[in-house]
Amino acid sequence: MKLLDSMSSAELIESYRTAGQGHVFAFFDQLSECEQQQLLSEAAEIDLHEIATLKKELIDGDGAAAMDYSDLEPSPFEARPEKGGDADAWAEAERLGEQALRAGRVAAFTVAGGQGTRLGFDGPKGTFPITPVRRATLFQVFAEKITAAAKRYGTSIPWLIMTSHQNHEATVSFFADNAHFGLEETQVRFFRQGRMPAVNREGRIMLSSRSSIAMSPDGHGGSLRALDRSGALAQLEAEGIDTISYFQVDNPLVRCIDPAFIGWHLKSKSEMSSKMVPKAYAEEKVGHFCIQGDRAVVVEYSDLPAAMQAETDSATGALRFIAGSIAIHVLDRNFVKRLAGAGPEAALPFHLAHKKIPTVDGAGDSVSPTEPNGIKFEMFVFDALPFAQNPIVIETLRENDFSPVKNATGIDSADSCRADLLRQYTRWANVNGAAVATDETGSPSFDYEVCPSYGYDENSFTASWANTSPPPLISAGTLLG
Ligand code: UTP
Repeated sequence: MKLLDSMSSAELIESYRTAGQGHVFAFFDQLSECEQQQLLSEAAEIDLHEIATLKKELIDGDGAAAMDYSDLEPSPFEARPEKGGDADAWAEAERLGEQALRAGRVAAFTVAGGQGTRLGFDGPKGTFPITPVRRATLFQVFAEKITAAAKRYGTSIPWLIMTSHQNHEATVSFFADNAHFGLEETQVRFFRQGRMPAVNREGRIMLSSRSSIAMSPDGHGGSLRALDRSGALAQLEAEGIDTISYFQVDNPLVRCIDPAFIGWHLKSKSEMSSKMVPKAYAEEKVGHFCIQGDRAVVVEYSDLPAAMQAETDSATGALRFIAGSIAIHVLDRNFVKRLAGAGPEAALPFHLAHKKIPTVDGAGDSVSPTEPNGIKFEMFVFDALPFAQNPIVIETLRENDFSPVKNATGIDSADSCRADLLRQYTRWANVNGAAVATDETGSPSFDYEVCPSYGYDENSFTASWANTSPPPLISAGTLLG
């Protein structure tokens, strides 16, 4: 829209013709006035120069093939105390994190703008019912964890939620319908991420209908720009909040407010910190924390040559590139501001993905492709790492932090995630003497649930358990909350 203010419709259409994208307006004369306005405003959002550059560099130039990993080294990381890490340093980190939380310096941030195509759920992914007994949604789980942490540290923790154009209204209404799950309305802040047009292999912008461009969210990396553009950063600054705890909407196990992680970030004076889990096996599909030159990078599983993924340490036999990325970060507010406002020298790169894009043919009739027919462009948040000062990676235990809901069935599905939630509750309960019987994987034979208000991590669970007298009996359907 901004562009439209300073540019007439005729000029805009002409700029498309000049850029070889005039077909976007092929049906313009057949559209109603309202449809014309929609098309014009979508067209005004697009940076045609950026599209031309992406075509040249990524489609024609095959950017990915140019990667050179000869100087790639595994990233160092802070090992957990029980895995040989420095227990005193972890304790100090936890203390610092708690101090920052009590001082009200921390906001939670969920990226929830994805399309969730693999899950195939009708609605924003955050509204997916996940817990074993209540079937509380992903959003509800995070809301309860944030509420419980805020209570524990006697503070308020604003929660930023990035949506997309597609799911914004549905997300906002979902929270309104659920009274924001008890959070103050002003503390839950929604903003939309940017979007990018899909193009075909010739770099021509695709239409999704005669009056609409095929637009999709610009990737979780778009969160940095969107945090700034939406005014969210300015508001955090006014509130004295400088630390942003970033996590994905699909991972209900996440310790979304983790004092030790926040403390490591602060004591290292890091601008962007990350959690790693040791890769379970060489081919596991997670990104790898690495060092290239003097910069921290994440190299995706699809990019790191298989031979490198399988390399082992000669002394320990462990995988050399062992630090797997689980998309949990702490971001410094000023760092986000700097990157969001930076020029091309610090712009996050776009990655391309070949997708099936519903579109129209030359006559304007709908086409539903059965094979990928177009290209989407996305930015990834971990591409911010090379620009960060003092980035630090800390180890976490997978069972405490990571079980994403990506697929409808099988690995990383709702079923596997529920099983991981149950195993987590059972570990906490059994550490406290509950004696819940389990199979060899740590799974109980029945469903029950620990609400985050009772325990959102082992410490908070233990505190509640100590205050529950007599100790709760855990059996099928028990709800601790
Ligand atoms: P995924 O990479 O799993 O993508 O997102 P997705 O869109 O949710 O799911 P598929 O690939 O279509 O099945 C990881 C996290 O990043 C967020 C998602 O909401 C999820 O929390 N994300 C992804 C965004 O916020 N915006 C995007 O443009 C892409």
